[in-house]
Amino acid sequence: MTAAGAIETIGGVRVERGAKIPTWFRCGGAADRLARPRDEGELRACLASDPGLRVVGDGANLLVADGGVRELVVSLEGERFTRIEVDESSGLVVAGAGARLPRVINLCVRSGLGGLETLAGIPASVGGAAAMNAGGRFGSFADRVERVDAMDREGREVELTREQAGFGYRTSGLGELIVTAVAFRLERGDAADLRDRRDEIMRTKTASQPMRERSAGCCFKNPTLGEAIEGIGAAGERVSAGLLIDRAGCKGLMVGGARVSEVHANFVVTAPEATASDVVGLMVEVGHRVRARFGVTLEPEVVIWRSENAS
Ligand code: EPU
Repeated sequence: MTAAGAIETIGGVRVERGAKIPTWFRCGGAADRLARPRDEGELRACLASDPGLRVVGDGANLLVADGGVRELVVSLEGERFTRIEVDESSGLVVAGAGARLPRVINLCVRSGLGGLETLAGIPASVGGAAAMNAGGRFGSFADRVERVDAMDREGREVELTREQAGFGYRTSGLGELIVTAVAFRLERGDAADLRDRRDEIMRTKTASQPMRERSAGCCFKNPTLGEAIEGIGAAGERVSAGLLIDRAGCKGLMVGGARVSEVHANFVVTAPEATASDVVGLMVEVGHRVRARFGVTLEPEVVIWRSENAS
């Protein structure tokens, strides 16, 4: 922690100064001010103090520029925001935005409720997973969403149906809204079968992704091809960015402490000395090489936080 201290409060919420923002890359800058509101009322107070605040989830898909961020950062860690309510008979599961997705999945599997096990192995908070419609080959977050509870920047609570939330491939229409909870509708199933399915998905991921190294999962979204590419895919087909990066010869490419994984080329893995600008520099270089080789422009999946007046 850099110079942490409770030298300020916002509507009763303690604010930490110069707080490290935990991300899976384990590099990058700090938050000038970080708060942990415990409920909607405290979140509203934070919004009144800085309507442009940023919400940090599990930090699993986030890169913070080395200069840190000037806006207030909030982490929804309190009991209210990490609750998981399971109604086994109706299959309705409500999870707070700060609850960790793997915990929600495990609880549902144990309760014999099926539908979320397809997301096994995705590290995320429920709010973060909703905002970017996290997912993979086996399913997307949006598939089982019934309702999203959120707060707008004026502090008003809103409820959205799945349709209103505007989910798409690794994106949502949630925009500036702050997700506070998500309700899922799941199906009754056999707990042992669901566990097997979850474990099988985990095994697939462990075999094809560098799960033990420090990374934020896939760095780029899978692009849709404008034209057919021999051996890659047809026009209009969404293809693996990892495959393109691999075929462009980028595996093992390094900038400072950041390296393109040899296991899966869409993963940038970081050594302890890595900086956020190493990661960005590597992503830029990978983008150049893929464009030069295939004429395809890759769009980052990793969210990058950078403040205007940051160094
Ligand atoms: N491939 C290579 N080289 C590589 C990587 C992949 O040849 O370095 C080939 C594989 O052999 C396979 C094909 O590309 O034939 C597809 O690879 P994979 O099954 O790993 O799927 P992906 O499209 O690269 C997507 C998601 C992952 C998710 C996996 C599995 C995106 C951007 N990526 O990857 O999501 O885990 O499917 O479900 O949608 C993430 O979003 O952070 C993420 C890791």
